Amino acid sequence: MMPNKFSFIFFLFLSITVYPQKFDSLALTPPMGWNSWNTFACDINEQLIRETADAMVSTGMNDAGYLYINIDDCWHGERDSLGFIQPDPERFPSGMKEIADYIHSKGLKFGIYSCAGWKTCGGKPASRGYEFQDAIQYAEWGVDYLKYDWCNTEKLNAEGAYLNMRNALYAAGRPIVFSICEWGNNKPWEWGKNTGHLWRTTGDIINCFDCVVDHGTWKSWGVMQILDKQEGLRIHAGPDHWNDPDMMEVGNGMSVSEDRAHFSIWCMLAAPLIAGNDLRNMSKETVEILTNKEVIAVDQDSLGIQGLKYLSENNIEMWFKPLINDEWAVCFLNRGSEEGLIEFAWKEHNVKDDFSKKEINFNNITYTIRDLWKKENIGTTEKIFTAKIPSHDVIMLRLFQEE
Ligand code: GLA
Repeated sequence: MMPNKFSFIFFLFLSITVYPQKFDSLALTPPMGWNSWNTFACDINEQLIRETADAMVSTGMNDAGYLYINIDDCWHGERDSLGFIQPDPERFPSGMKEIADYIHSKGLKFGIYSCAGWKTCGGKPASRGYEFQDAIQYAEWGVDYLKYDWCNTEKLNAEGAYLNMRNALYAAGRPIVFSICEWGNNKPWEWGKNTGHLWRTTGDIINCFDCVVDHGTWKSWGVMQILDKQEGLRIHAGPDHWNDPDMMEVGNGMSVSEDRAHFSIWCMLAAPLIAGNDLRNMSKETVEILTNKEVIAVDQDSLGIQGLKYLSENNIEMWFKPLINDEWAVCFLNRGSEEGLIEFAWKEHNVKDDFSKKEINFNNITYTIRDLWKKENIGTTEKIFTAKIPSHDVIMLRLFQEE
């Protein structure tokens, strides 16, 4: 039975009598999808959402694993006379149920946005005081994913506020991925595991590889700055509870190398892969980056172990990520402005991950090396690996054993 407005009291009763929890197993691998904010901010409407759903299928994004079409801030109109939130009638005249149905008819899932405060960051009506009612409305519309922001939350306790919305979603009865967007100020990695499926670890990303933009009361962060803020957080992530370094800026104006590096790093971090570009107008390079299935497989690996920084020397970092069946992903990242030279003698290294208890001793085991961007096998770990790496680019490898 689908909940509707008239079952409000019934669900309120249920919410008090059933022990609330998060919906389990909705994000056993990091969620993949698209979100409107990074490109469109408040300039959104239902035509954009429908066209984006179409493009997600026609460009091969859905085939590569992207599933959620998430509408961010500013879809809101007013609350009706009973307090139920309604979409902006000019931007979304068909209503959210019809849009959700359209998205579902394409085999995709539908995400929406709200905020724990009394107004969203964009100044629209938010959920404070309406949590259970909003959850019922979302369930009725067919929402599958809720991003829940943290603006205008004076005096609220973050953990309590997110638990409250988690409980409201659970009481409404429709499984909804719960995305905690609290920017890391209250350390959501310490309490988010049983509350949501992912939590933002930082403030907002910007389409810049290595810079900070100061807006006065808040800052937005480049890809490198966000990467550095993940330090120490990997022990908190795993299947169904992910660190979220924010939605992607691939295809939003950085160079192809920078986009490739950004995407590769997000995959090494087992980050949610939420595209933030205009899917209706993508360059060939952008599509190639976003749909590289071998790189995506690193992100989506079923062990769900976030990668670790192993070395950092002369602007070049080397990252390892343990994968299923004792395979590993390896990523060299050149943060510098000059081309770099890599010489890595595998056999001189014993990689040990105290967190996952995975270890490689290259003297006892020989791996075949696959270059995931060239899409070819390039030798084994018997030999010293040498390569040139352009500025702001990566070399991403998968180590596996041949039968
Ligand atoms: C915050 C979030 C962003 C976006 C905007 C919308 O800044 O962190 O991701 O949702 O609000 O206003």
